Amino acid sequence: MSAADARLVLGIETSCDDTSVAVLEDGRTLRAHLIAAQDVHKLYGGVVPELASRAHLELLPKLVSSALAEARIEPRELTAVAVTRAPGLVGSLVVGVAFARAYALALGIPAIGVNHIEAHLHAGALEHGESPLPAVALVVSGGHTELVEVLGFRRYRWLGSTRDDAAGEAFDKVAKRLGLGFPGGPIIDRLAKEGRRDAFDFPRPMLDQPGFEFSFSGLKTAVATALAPHGEPPYDGTLVRDLAASFQAAVVDTLVAKSLRAVQHTHARALNLGGGVACNRELRERLALACAERGVVLRIPSPRLCADNAAMVAQIGAWSLAAGEVPDPELDATASLEASGLPLAASA
Ligand code: KG4
Ligand code: ZN
Repeated sequence: MSAADARLVLGIETSCDDTSVAVLEDGRTLRAHLIAAQDVHKLYGGVVPELASRAHLELLPKLVSSALAEARIEPRELTAVAVTRAPGLVGSLVVGVAFARAYALALGIPAIGVNHIEAHLHAGALEHGESPLPAVALVVSGGHTELVEVLGFRRYRWLGSTRDDAAGEAFDKVAKRLGLGFPGGPIIDRLAKEGRRDAFDFPRPMLDQPGFEFSFSGLKTAVATALAPHGEPPYDGTLVRDLAASFQAAVVDTLVAKSLRAVQHTHARALNLGGGVACNRELRERLALACAERGVVLRIPSPRLCADNAAMVAQIGAWSLAAGEVPDPELDATASLEASGLPLAASA
């Protein structure tokens, strides 16, 4: 197939608690991009997998109709359907994959399975074009903290992941412990602006160890220990702001230091960010400064493209078609990253 065959790709993302649909033209022009956040999970302080699957089932057909209407195209004009197949909540993935397969079958077009992490690590290309190579990508979300060396499309080397909680998960858990809402990241980000980042001396986990692994569960425990003398929420406003600022500083210090270490180790020309935590103000500012000092190109997508979205999924589908890859007719969903078929070699 040639790039022309990727003319109009319908992207579908249902890996967690956002239902999203996009129409991407020629691999770069977004004709429509809809993201429906499922507010139901706020009631429970976290994502409830069963409710997420049901909500995807209800929202997906409506979003596809709305996206096609917004793009002013008929279903028969579509070239392919690209859908997240892994990793994620398996019940949520199955809804998207089953829908995509049926929709594509009815139209006689291919359904392409996309790896969610691969989609995140190239999301910035939608706005700025492909980054210089080699690049290092940091994908930080509610489910993942991954550092990957990007040598090209489909050419990656895994550098490191988290040993326990993902960065976003740590934000969410700390926010919950502080009696704040869900998702916790944006709330802590906002409160941290008014707090003192040196009010509490929290650990910078794994910074003293070589390599690119992360660990955030100890930090969560450190926050709980600091709160112990104060009982249960609600807490004094200054205490919450100082804790938010000190906790965020510890996470950001760790993410920045390990990313820069990876850039140095791989002689990367660019650093690509993706995932919901990439919306974090302090992380963005610190990396902007550090990359400018080192002459490294920093690619951080706008917040809508950092979080889970179908545009990044459609983009990988378009690239896959353009590369002449033959979609698997037995496409299925899988929760695990290892089994998801992303062509990754272990880190050297
Ligand atoms: O990529 P995403 O939308 O979904 C997943 O794949 O998980 O990321 C959601 C995560 C949540 O943990 C949320 O708290 C976090 O991203 N997040 C943030 C910010 N905005 C979202 N974390 C820190 N600062 C933010 N501004
Ligand atoms: Zn994600």
